[in-house]
Amino acid sequence: VKNKPNLALLASGFGSNLQVILDEVSKGNLDATVRVVLSDKQNSQSLVRAKKAGVEAVHASPKQFESREKYDAHLVALLKERDIDWVVLAGFMRILSPVFVRAFQQRIVNIHPALLPKYPGTQAIERAFEAREKEIGVTVHYVDEGVDTGPIILQEKILISEGETLDEVTRKVHELEHRIYPEALRRVIGPF
Ligand code: GAR
Repeated sequence: VKNKPNLALLASGFGSNLQVILDEVSKGNLDATVRVVLSDKQNSQSLVRAKKAGVEAVHASPKQFESREKYDAHLVALLKERDIDWVVLAGFMRILSPVFVRAFQQRIVNIHPALLPKYPGTQAIERAFEAREKEIGVTVHYVDEGVDTGPIILQEKILISEGETLDEVTRKVHELEHRIYPEALRRVIGPF
């Protein structure tokens, strides 16, 4: 019998958001068990972070699969074997097909560095900056079958001031992400 939900963290890249979640769980600030970290990229720093935290790290390469659906079915099987309750996307740079989304209906959460519905997809910070937006932000949302379209859990804005560089703005966005992702997860995962 478990008294906490099992989380799977999925990441493709550097994994700074994933690190914050691992830290919050180990400090007891997020009442969950991180059961597995899964990456589509072998060289993702997220796999190193998982091992350091004593969490199972799994690399699953899409290259061995002939379709998105087959790859996603493989991920679903991996996660179901580990009795995952919540799938937390932390810079997982792949679109999930309905095969995946339907297997974890209302149980997949994503963080996106923009004020959705503006700037879905990749390079959101760069695109907002280049469009000279005066405000930017971060959205945590449930994942549905669209691209960055699911119901919003938490969204926060920051202002871009005159003369700020893309690097400065990017750093502020990441700081905001690291603050609100654990908060949003506490809200959705709640008491088990
Ligand atoms: C984060 O900014 C996250 O919001 C973004 O990738 C970055 C990953 O950074 N995700 C997307 O753009 C999803 N469309 P991290 O690996 O350091 O957490």
